[in-house]
Amino acid sequence: MDYEPEIARLKAEKNAILLAHYYQDDDIQDIADFVGDSLELARKAAGTTADVIVFSGVRFMAEGAKILNPGKQVLIPDMNAGCSLEDSCPPAAFAAFCKAHPDHMVVTYINCSAEVKALSDIIVTSSNAEAIINSLPHDQKIIFAPDKYLGDYLNKKTGRNMLLWNGTCMVHERFSEEELVRLTVRHPAAHVIAHPECPAHLLAHAKFIGSTAKLIQYTAEHPGGAFIVLTEPGILYEMKKRSAGSTFYEVPGISGGACISCNNCPYMKMNNLEKIYLCLKNGTPSIELSDDLIRRARKPLDRMLELSVGIGKK
Ligand code: 13P
Ligand code: SF4
Repeated sequence: MDYEPEIARLKAEKNAILLAHYYQDDDIQDIADFVGDSLELARKAAGTTADVIVFSGVRFMAEGAKILNPGKQVLIPDMNAGCSLEDSCPPAAFAAFCKAHPDHMVVTYINCSAEVKALSDIIVTSSNAEAIINSLPHDQKIIFAPDKYLGDYLNKKTGRNMLLWNGTCMVHERFSEEELVRLTVRHPAAHVIAHPECPAHLLAHAKFIGSTAKLIQYTAEHPGGAFIVLTEPGILYEMKKRSAGSTFYEVPGISGGACISCNNCPYMKMNNLEKIYLCLKNGTPSIELSDDLIRRARKPLDRMLELSVGIGKK
C-alpha cells in the first residue's frame, strides 16, 4: 500500500494533525505537519485546532499532548514507544523521594510519565531547562529528575547543587568515547556537538551542547561545516536540509564493540508509516488518562509553557 496518500486522506477526513520528533525516520518527517523538539511539539499540541493529534514520537510526548488537550483524541502509532528515562523513574519511588525532601522544589525533565509530572512543580525540556532554573531564587533547594547527566550539566551551567535522581538515557549514555576520539583525530576541523543527555566525559569533547532544536540551529548557522553529532541520528535529516554543503558524522554506540545501530533510539524507531496509517484508520492506540491525573500533571506543564515564552521556534 502507498501509505502517504492514505494518511493524507484520513488526516483530512478526521481533521487530524501529525506531529513528529526530529528522531523519527525521514519518511515520517516528510509527511508530518510539524517536526520539532519536545518544547516545540508541546507548544504545537497546546495550540492546535485539529480534532485528532497523531504523535509520532514517544509515549511521554503523546501523554503531554493529551494533558494539554483533554478533549481531543491523541493517537500514538505504537503504545510501546517508551523512554528509558521514564522507566528509570517509577512514580511510587519518586513520590517517596520527594516526600523525604519536603523543602525542595521538584523540577522534572519532560521525559517522564504523567504520574511523575503530577508530582512535580515545574516541567522543563533541554531547550528551556537552564533559563527556567535560573529564574528560580538561587537559595531554592531543587530536586531534578529523572536524568542525572542532564542534571549534572545543568548544575555546572547554573552553579546550583540540585539533588539528582539516578536516571539515564540508554542512547546518549552509550556513545563510544573511543570512536568519538577516532573521529575527531580523522576530522580535526569538525565541530563536536552534543545533546545534554550525554554523560560528562562525552560532553567534555563538545564545542556546542544543546537540545535537538538548538543543535540543528547551530549547524544551520555554520553552512559548509563538518559536525560530529552526539545525539540520535534521526536528527541528521533536518540538519542536512538546513545546513547546505555540510558534512555530518554520527558516533557509534557501544555494545561489546562499536555498534553503529546502537545509537538509534529503539523507542523512537518503533514508529513507521504503516503504524501511523493504522492508528489513524482504527482510532487506536489512543492515550487515555484520568481527569484527575490530567488536572495534576497539567499545572507543572502550564508553568513550563509560561516560563518559556520567547525560547525556540513557535
Ligand atoms: P529534545 O527535547 O532535545 O528534542 O530531546 C528529546 C529527547 O528525547 C532526547 O533524547
Ligand atoms: Fe528516551 Fe533516550 Fe529515546 Fe530520547 S533518545 S526518547 S531520552 S530513550
